[in-house]
Parts: sequence; C-alpha cells; structure tokens
Amino acid sequence: MADKASFAVLVLNQISKAGLERLPAGRYLTGKDLAEPDAILVRSADMHSMAIPASVLAIGRAGAGTNNIPVQALNARGVPVFNTPGANANAVKELVLAGMLMAARRLGAAQHFVAQLDGADGLDKAIEEGKKPFAGFELANQTLGVIGLGKVGCLVADAAIKLGMHVLGYDPDITVDAAWSLPSQVQRAASVEDVLRNAQLVTLHVPLVEATRHLVNADRLRLMRADGVLLNFSREGVADDAAVVAALDARRLGAYVCDFPNRAILRHPQVIAFPHLGASTREAEENCARMVADQLRDFLEHGNIRNA
Ligand code: MLT
Repeated sequence: MADKASFAVLVLNQISKAGLERLPAGRYLTGKDLAEPDAILVRSADMHSMAIPASVLAIGRAGAGTNNIPVQALNARGVPVFNTPGANANAVKELVLAGMLMAARRLGAAQHFVAQLDGADGLDKAIEEGKKPFAGFELANQTLGVIGLGKVGCLVADAAIKLGMHVLGYDPDITVDAAWSLPSQVQRAASVEDVLRNAQLVTLHVPLVEATRHLVNADRLRLMRADGVLLNFSREGVADDAAVVAALDARRLGAYVCDFPNRAILRHPQVIAFPHLGASTREAEENCARMVADQLRDFLEHGNIRNA
C-alpha cells in the first residue's frame, strides 16, 4: 500500500506485546506521541471526538465492537477500520457462564456475607443461620435465550447445552440457520419477544448500533418472568438500564448481570456488574493484538484488507 521503508503506529491503549512484536522493530515505530501516524491501534479509547490526523491510512481495533470509532466517517475518507471478531469470544463466553452461575447461586451476596463474618462469635451457627437466603437454582433444565448469534452468542449457546440447559436462539440480523456455528439442539425463536417470553435467563450478544439501542426496553422487559435473569455482555445501551432498574424494583425481573457498570445500576442489590472484563484475559488480549497487528501490517505493506 504505502511504499515506505518504515511506518508509524500510534498506540492509544495498552495492547499486548504479543501483537506489537509482530510489527517488526526497525520497520515500525510505535508510541503514544507520534505526530503523523500511518495507522492507529486502539482498544477501548473513545475516538469519536478525536481529531484523527490526515496521515492515518488505517485503524485497528483490538476487539470485536467498533462503536468507539467513527467508522463511517473514516470509511468515507478511504480509511479502513479493522477489528478482531472471535479473537476474544472464548473469554467473553467464560465470563457469561460465571455471571449465570453467580445469579443462579447468589454467589456475590454469599461471598459478601462470608466476608462480614470475620470476628463473629459462634461462626458455625452464624453460617448455618445466615446462609438460608442464598439457596439458588440449577442451570440444568432451565431455558437460556440467546439474542445475537455471532461468535460469542454461538459459543455461549454451545456451553449452555453442555451444562444441560435448553437454548432458544434469535438474531435480529441473520437467520438462525446462517449463524456462525450453532449447535443443532438450539431451538429457533421467531423474535426478541419470543425469547423474552420463553426463557428464564436471557443473554444479549448483539453489537450496539442504532437498531439495537434499547433493544430490551420497558415494554419488552414486561414479557420476562418475574424471576428471570437478564445478562448484558454486549454493550451498554443494548438494554435500557433505567427500565431494567424499574423492573427489578417492581419485582418484575429477578436479576441483571452486566459487564458495563453505570450509576443507574451500580448499587442495586439485584445487579451483578463487572467492570467491562469480558475480554480481559491474557489469552484474549494476545489473540486480539496478534490478529489486529497482522491486519494492519498486511494492509500497510501489501494493501490487503481483512475484516474491515
Ligand atoms: C470487544 O469489543 O471485543 C471488547 O470490548 C474488547 C475489550 O474489552 O476491549
């Protein structure tokens, strides 16, 4: 693409060394203070209000979602935006499983209870009496609704089936049959409403775009069971968090598990929230960094476009 002896890559977030090493030293200069970069590598930094230098030929996102990047405006300038779908999907799947188990067995509250026992007299008695509210339910034989059947959604569906759950799948954009790799046991749902009505646990795995903003809103929350569990590991905004809190307060929803804490939900006793940890494993960070570094290199050196 660019017939240059060396390239400058502005790195906006901490990106695993495993990826940066694939931009060969001597041929690439990486750092945060590069004035005229050829490319930008980013993880979660919000680039919408950033003045992106005219020298930039490509952007690489070490992650699947691109809602932190002004993709359309960049594409209109002829700048491709690369992302890494699937590279962190296993990490997200594992955290979704942890979230389901935490909700089903009330593990967060149970842990909090145990931590408070320090120094209590008669520890055995305090445990025996105090543990009563933490009796939970088993995931096996429950129905999990999976909305969004991309790489993460399909992995979650597969794992849930292996745990003995029934799975109801729906994707607003693709037919279920075209989904990436969906186990045959997944039942096809006709709509978002169908999933919300018929599943005890519902997990969201769609990107945040205009059509999916508040996909789960106040009206749709009314379709869920009063002991239902909603899980959002996609993006803040896919569920209307204010409506979720109202449903929890009115006891029309059992619990909300999400990877995007905000002030609306932070302190709610029926909320289990993580600090956007879905992709934060060593393995996922390395996979994403390698994949995006290869994409940028292939583009800058040869003009090839993969996953833009
Ligand atoms: C993703 O879009 O894949 C994640 O947001 C990646 C991340 O946690 O940075």
